[in-house]
Amino acid sequence: MTSVFHPNNDETINPSGNESIREVIAQFTGRRTFLKGTLAAGVLTGLGGFSTSALAYTPSPAPVGGGITFTGVGPNRPSNDGGFIDAITVPVGYTARVLIGWGDAIGRPGAMANTHWDAATPMTEALQLTTFGQHNDGMHFFPFPTAGAAGVSSDRGLLCVNHEYVDPGLSVNSATYGSHALTAAEVAGQIASHGVSVLELRKVGGEMKVQRPSVLARRITGKTPMRISGPAAGNALLKTAADPTGTQVLGTLNNCAHGFTPWGTYLTCEENFNGYFGTTAAKLAATPLSNLEKRYGISSGGFGYRWHEQDPRFDFRDNPNEPNRFGWVVEIDPWNPNSQPVKRTALGRFKHESAGHVVGADNTVTVYLGDDERNDYMYKFVCAGKFNPTNRAANRDLLDSGTLYVAKFNADGSGTWLPLVWGQGGLTAENGFADQPEVLIKARQAADRLGATMMDRPEWVAVHPTTREVYLTLTNNNRRGTSTASSNNPNGSTTAGSARPPLDATNPRQDNKYGHILRWNETGGNVGATTFAWDIFVECGDKATTLSPASRYQGNIMGDDLGAPDGLWFDKDGRLWIQTDQQGDGTGDWVNIGGNMMSCADPSTGQITRFLTSPKNCEVTGVVTTPDGKTMFVGIQHPGEDWAPGGFTAKSTWPDSGVNGMTTQAVVAKPRSSVVRITKDNGGVIGT
Ligand code: FEO
Ligand code: CA
Ligand code: CA
Repeated sequence: MTSVFHPNNDETINPSGNESIREVIAQFTGRRTFLKGTLAAGVLTGLGGFSTSALAYTPSPAPVGGGITFTGVGPNRPSNDGGFIDAITVPVGYTARVLIGWGDAIGRPGAMANTHWDAATPMTEALQLTTFGQHNDGMHFFPFPTAGAAGVSSDRGLLCVNHEYVDPGLSVNSATYGSHALTAAEVAGQIASHGVSVLELRKVGGEMKVQRPSVLARRITGKTPMRISGPAAGNALLKTAADPTGTQVLGTLNNCAHGFTPWGTYLTCEENFNGYFGTTAAKLAATPLSNLEKRYGISSGGFGYRWHEQDPRFDFRDNPNEPNRFGWVVEIDPWNPNSQPVKRTALGRFKHESAGHVVGADNTVTVYLGDDERNDYMYKFVCAGKFNPTNRAANRDLLDSGTLYVAKFNADGSGTWLPLVWGQGGLTAENGFADQPEVLIKARQAADRLGATMMDRPEWVAVHPTTREVYLTLTNNNRRGTSTASSNNPNGSTTAGSARPPLDATNPRQDNKYGHILRWNETGGNVGATTFAWDIFVECGDKATTLSPASRYQGNIMGDDLGAPDGLWFDKDGRLWIQTDQQGDGTGDWVNIGGNMMSCADPSTGQITRFLTSPKNCEVTGVVTTPDGKTMFVGIQHPGEDWAPGGFTAKSTWPDSGVNGMTTQAVVAKPRSSVVRITKDNGGVIGT
């Protein structure tokens, strides 16, 4: 199982019944058989009934520059000779060391006394405002400009890191949080653990380290004032008693993955925001949940945070519009520590996973946006204006104007981007959308009406650095298909009334336990196109699984098995890095996979090789390198998750156990999410 505060997926249901094109199921069978047998690019052509489509996917994966030449590491699992290792393992010739962990000083000027938090004490708001937040997720490195040929530095830059969620028990030192006598100060501490850290890194003694102090070091939290911008700014559904203008909101929450823009800003994505809100049973009885609240997963208990008991902002009956002010993509200028973050409403409101962009040949900017919920959708936003590479200020509000689309995948390998535009496709007042702002605030419901394809949890998007091919992780879905056999359900539950869409060509596995990776090309290479051609890059699985039928669960990975792909990133040479967020611990149906990992794929051959294994019961999330590719940063989130409820008997003491170079704190029974720095011992490019 997983922590209630970090649901592998919560219980929000897509009631739309957009099931994915029942009429194409007949065609689907043939396609699936074909896809099972191939990974190789180029094999797609010449197959009857599929490639004849003018829109058939024609992969053009460039060979990986510099190659992938490391020797992969084995799975980390309890059955190993040395047991389940509570440490990071990387290939021979590589070194991984902790860069920064939860509660370590970020280098705010004047806050140097708090170099390290005593993790045996509760975390406070005051301390968290100058220290690294909890449970880091997506991140990006912004290099300083240089005068040399490269134009950018690999020795100095800003690392922006998301802090997705908190484990309240870790924050307040309570093993029984549900009945804990919660205080307002404890809630404030938890809110401050969310958001983003901006760190300045400099190379010292040959290694990138956190620069302390730095005037650019910054914490953005769940309480930082930020502006609401774009078409929905000022809409009635965004107004509250504290903000009658509907344009100013406190904070960003559940900052899962991320993006960045070509003009050098950071994008942080608000994912499972619904879990922070709650109300009393009496208030809910007096005013039952609206359809809007239901579609976004609002419930009286939320995820059990109980913040609403101490902070009325999180009581959705006292402040019914406050949840509408979350679920957005937030743009941050890391180069100006005084800048106000901006929630860009043009990109729609849903459980945003990540925001991967691509710049077209004509400087059109498209941002790909996944809604990570079982049976929810894949979106893209096409900016109306063009990117100006020579005038940064001219790009400042590019994300405020454009068209939001949602994907419909067809069985013949083609796809269509359906516009979320008021007045089109039934997005009208009669159907509950008063205007374009409401289409954006209710984006999930708008996409329901348009007939978008229900997906197996869209997570990260990565765009190939030269071909512009788009790759998408679909991590798993225990509500796909008609079977409800518990053995087929990785999350162990089948809620009555849940949507269980049938299999389709794009999501071809019932109770998709191990997930898959999809890829597509926009028609004509035009990033603003409204049609595309898609293919399944890989179906993940475990060749040693005992699940039946094996053909469904063993996947077709060429190389090292993996499951539940989540983080996804292309390096400059075209290596595809895949990070996992599975619930297995290397036993049972995960024995050939082991615990969570990061693998490296060559899109031109399909070969996948395991590069990193992680400490116990963590998730590997967040990856980026310096521009020269020689220093890599990798996120380790929630080591030791699933603590015994009786009292903090940790499964993990990483990183304070002293491995991976972190020996600055006494070992306490409180593992800490951290970012690690990976280098190659001969100074080479990571992955070679
Ligand atoms: Fe926060 Fe969808 O992962
Ligand atoms: Ca994720
Ligand atoms: Ca995750």
